[in-house]
Amino acid sequence: MDKEKVKICVLVSGGGTNLGALIGAEKSGILTSGKISLVISSNADAYALTRAKEAGIKTAVVDRRTAKSREEFEQQMIKLIDEEGCGLVVLAGFLIILSESFIRHYEGRIINIHPSLIPSFCGEGYYGLRVHEAALARGVKVTGATVHYVNKITDGGEIIEQRAVYVREDDTPKTLQRRVMEEAEWIILPKATELVCQKILSSNKANTNKDIKN
Ligand code: GRF
Repeated sequence: MDKEKVKICVLVSGGGTNLGALIGAEKSGILTSGKISLVISSNADAYALTRAKEAGIKTAVVDRRTAKSREEFEQQMIKLIDEEGCGLVVLAGFLIILSESFIRHYEGRIINIHPSLIPSFCGEGYYGLRVHEAALARGVKVTGATVHYVNKITDGGEIIEQRAVYVREDDTPKTLQRRVMEEAEWIILPKATELVCQKILSSNKANTNKDIKN
């Protein structure tokens, strides 16, 4: 019998190197408890879509600008995710802040990757290169990345995995961004995703057993 897996939906907006790391992890057997079943992009030109298509993963574009409201935008995504039967949502470079009601809908089943050691350099306004600019401006000697559950506080949910990266004297925001990706993000995102999938599978099993007993 095939191993039971959690269907995963990855939300992206850009290059999708973290999506690439997840796809690689599934191929190499690091991610075995989950299967990337759907990739939704908020941007039709995102290279992440090409990566998904090349890996044979179903894709969709849900554009915030053409939706009448945030509610409509999120409802479109919820419909796609739930119709696909996804049990986990991974935000991997998704640049749109989600509403409390969207987050509540996926409570305990939605995670995000952030390119700093939370609680440093996180929260509203800290995204992309800005995070690394702020870290260099503050003069920290160590930075890194964090995977956390998503709750209503931006970058405020429970931490699942973190990994540190040393800052070099000659780092620029761009060189630091790249090293944080290579040495931290692409390692901890697959690891955290596997952990959360295992957790979801065991809680599904516990609930089924409860139902049988009742
Ligand atoms: C990454 O730095 C991630 O931590 C942040 O957005 C960036 C996305 O990069 N949330 P990519 O699209 O995965 O290449």
